[in-house]
Amino acid sequence: MRIHAGVTEPLHSIHPRDLGVIIRNTKPEDVSNIVDLQKISYPYLAPYGNIWRSEELESHLRIFPQGQFVAVEPDGTIVGSASTFLVSLNPEYVEHTWIDITADGLFTTHISSGDTLYLADVSTHPKHRHEGIGGMIIDTWKELVTELKLRRMIGGGRLFNYTEHADKMSVYEYVEKVMNGEIKDLVLSFELDVGFSFIKILPNYLNDVRSLNYAGFIEWLNPKYSQPPN
Ligand SMILES: CC(C)(COP(=O)(O)OP(=O)(O)OC[C@H]1O[C@@H](n2cnc3c(N)ncnc32)[C@H](O)[C@@H]1OP(=O)(O)O)[C@@H](O)C(=O)NCCC(=O)NCCS
Repeated sequence: MRIHAGVTEPLHSIHPRDLGVIIRNTKPEDVSNIVDLQKISYPYLAPYGNIWRSEELESHLRIFPQGQFVAVEPDGTIVGSASTFLVSLNPEYVEHTWIDITADGLFTTHISSGDTLYLADVSTHPKHRHEGIGGMIIDTWKELVTELKLRRMIGGGRLFNYTEHADKMSVYEYVEKVMNGEIKDLVLSFELDVGFSFIKILPNYLNDVRSLNYAGFIEWLNPKYSQPPN
């Protein structure tokens, strides 16, 4: 059960959409609120400075405003944010790190003619997780991929709960257990549920005590994509 706006309801009977939560493009005036939210959403990364800085969010808005999103409650509170840009990878599943692919967070690696939406970040406020807000952001990304006629979207999802299992199993066994539902991972289970495929493990992706720097290369193929004529 949760209580929202004085109404007590079973958790799964209300969707954030019904409570007026919307996903919209980020505006310059959102930047300081996103920075504050990042500190709360990433308590394990924030001490190392591995969260968005204002200059980076401003760079994203200059480079690819269409790909920057926030989840907003009816009173204007930002409860989620997401940052993307465009790439073309060759080979298509090339191993990469978060720093390389994002140009250390600035998105100057953005290619406007790229065929792939790269998902650099998605996070929701810890008090509002498991309410469907992350899923709403993914739906917005799918709409953007369709609208821009992109081939796919990809990302490196940190294997959030691996640290709790690393003394018992390799990262490969861990991912197998998450994929067959034996273990729930805050990030990878969510990504699989919303329609991504797991491609491979990306070691040394991001300095992170939770994932021990491992991420999952994830991909969602646009079912409506058709190859442009040569
Ligand atoms: C990953 C994250 C963004 C998910 O956000 P969220 O708001 O909790 O997402 P949702 O509530 O939409 O989805 C979570 C749940 O719904 C499921 N779900 C969401 N949409 C779904 C759909 N369309 N169909 C089936 N299942 C779905 C998820 O698997 C998950 O299951 P649960 O009900 O057992 O919790 C959030 O956990 C987070 O901010 N994590 C920390 C930041 C982070 O590490 N981000 C990733 C960076 S790589």
